[in-house]
Amino acid sequence: MTSSADFEILLRREAIARRVRELGLKIGADFKGKDLCVVPVMDGGMVFAADLIREIGHPLTLFPFKASSYGNATSSSGRVEMAWKIPRGIKGRHLLVVDDILDTGKTLEALRTRLMEAGALSVSTCVLLRKKASFRLPADYIGFEIPDRFVIGYGLDLGGLYRNLPDIRVVPGE
Ligand code: IMP
Ligand code: MG
Repeated sequence: MTSSADFEILLRREAIARRVRELGLKIGADFKGKDLCVVPVMDGGMVFAADLIREIGHPLTLFPFKASSYGNATSSSGRVEMAWKIPRGIKGRHLLVVDDILDTGKTLEALRTRLMEAGALSVSTCVLLRKKASFRLPADYIGFEIPDRFVIGYGLDLGGLYRNLPDIRVVPGE
């Protein structure tokens, strides 16, 4: 296992925290008076979602959902696997899907379709990171635009490791 100190820092924890606070305030204002359900995309979105929901200043419910497209690789398999059933409680609710990163966009698109089919009233999307190459792909809330590199930390993994790093770092050569 490579030590995380070998990976260059792209975003420091303080910068992430500041941006997450801004996003939380904006989302809180946009959903004021609405019945908001936050849908963290597991496993990558869990760290971001945990911080984000504490910056949204009004009551909300949580419906975590598991989706994956990368397996152990550093490029998308193109196939989105959804391991969990869609919870019935999402019917007629305003959903905010929270994921770590927008890359090919397949994960968010597949999830949006499934959640709308399952009866959601609306589906909005929030990602902490968007890769440069994905600049045409829409998300309602975006934390940072980043270069087309493979990144780890703050929920993002490489083969299941490094999700617990507080900063976001670049994997060399990927
Ligand atoms: P998409 O479906 O191609 O947009 O990919 C989104 C998912 O791929 C994210 O939820 C991540 O789990 C994973 N992913 C994409 N890029 C990276 C990266 O640079 N580091 C770690 N995971 C990534
Ligand atoms: Mg993921």
